[in-house]
Amino acid sequence: MKLDDLYRRVIMDHYKNQRNRGAFEDGAMTVELNNPTCGDRISLQLLVEDNKVKDAKFSGDGCSISMASASMMTEAVKGRTYEEALELADRFSALMKGEDVEFEEYEEIEALSGVNKFPARIKCATLAWNALRKGIATEDN
Ligand code: FES
Ligand code: FES
Repeated sequence: MKLDDLYRRVIMDHYKNQRNRGAFEDGAMTVELNNPTCGDRISLQLLVEDNKVKDAKFSGDGCSISMASASMMTEAVKGRTYEEALELADRFSALMKGEDVEFEEYEEIEALSGVNKFPARIKCATLAWNALRKGIATEDN
């Protein structure tokens, strides 16, 4: 697939140097999710307090796009309220639909805009965000 060079560099940087890769010692909630089309999986851990995502980490195996997306997502949601985090997830869905949205909180996410023409790749890029939604839904009721 053809991605702009700058975008490709951002994605490769997040894939090779994954931010927030790992697990918390304890006290975190864990969400496991896989991408049914390929079987790749992510384990997302959220440290939550007062309806806020205080911190986030992830592990798992997946393609460069899924892991880069998890790296960016965990960076972007740290310190956000559930509401703010879900709003970011909604904006990410809009980006995957080809809408022109901005992520002033964490601009590097926009590097994933190029995948929106590839349905299989959208599933890769969305995996981490779906795990986030699932985690917040579990906590928030
Ligand atoms: Fe083409 Fe990943 S760069 S499928
Ligand atoms: Fe499996 Fe991308 S190919 S998550």
